[in-house]
Amino acid sequence: MTAAAQKAARGLKRDFGEIEQLQVSRKGPSDFVSAADVKAEKVLRQELLKARPRFGFLMEESGETKGEDGHHRWIVDPIDGTTNFLHGIPHFAISIGLEMDGDIIAGLVFNPIADEMYYAEKGKGAFLNDRRLRVSARDSLADALLATGIPFRGRPGHAPFLTELERVMPHVAGVRRAGTASLDLAYVASGRYDGYWEKGLQPWDVAAGILLVREAGGFISDFDGSKEDLAKGHVVAANAKLHKPILDLLAGKA
Ligand code: IPD
Repeated sequence: MTAAAQKAARGLKRDFGEIEQLQVSRKGPSDFVSAADVKAEKVLRQELLKARPRFGFLMEESGETKGEDGHHRWIVDPIDGTTNFLHGIPHFAISIGLEMDGDIIAGLVFNPIADEMYYAEKGKGAFLNDRRLRVSARDSLADALLATGIPFRGRPGHAPFLTELERVMPHVAGVRRAGTASLDLAYVASGRYDGYWEKGLQPWDVAAGILLVREAGGFISDFDGSKEDLAKGHVVAANAKLHKPILDLLAGKA
């Protein structure tokens, strides 16, 4: 997984370097970014196939491909944070999750610009480069820095999102919207953020990050506290002490 991500990242870094020039053109860089996305996905698929020829895929650009093995599939987003990439903001990531019989057993989130490689294997902990990760130890909402995501134009859920934000804002130190769900989860795993919530995410946005949070000692669930559902994509993640208080805030119970 790391070798595949490193290889795809080389191309992405080159393409990201071109973005600044393209920003000034009238047409804008969006076609270029879509091409970068597709190219990166191709590299990831090739490399992962080479390593595990029988595994299936669920990929942002090319969808589902069943594997001969019938148990494993790679869940891949070649550029999570596409809007950031498009605007020349160096906050995006390659996200790769490995699922076995419906359970995420390995995850990797790589921000190639910051050279931060987050990875986890089920039962073996979460790491950033070579450093073991732990979620934050903060136990007071008043000190907590949370992250979230706002539905993009054309997607439903703006009104409920504003209600959630209104419920949360007065009780916490601050709220961020950085634009890359996989990195939001990686930041919870590394203790930078104390919590994170977002609705309507895609499996490839969260598959890897879910495992990072769990393996770093954090909690992650759907908004009602039940196990998160990849197909639904609603997640609330936090350290063990703040997870329930954040669920209560979001539900308007605080
Ligand atoms: C998006 C990012 C963003 C989240 C969106 C996702 P993409 O992924 O993760 O943070 O708010 O819901 O769609 O489209 O850049 O791969």
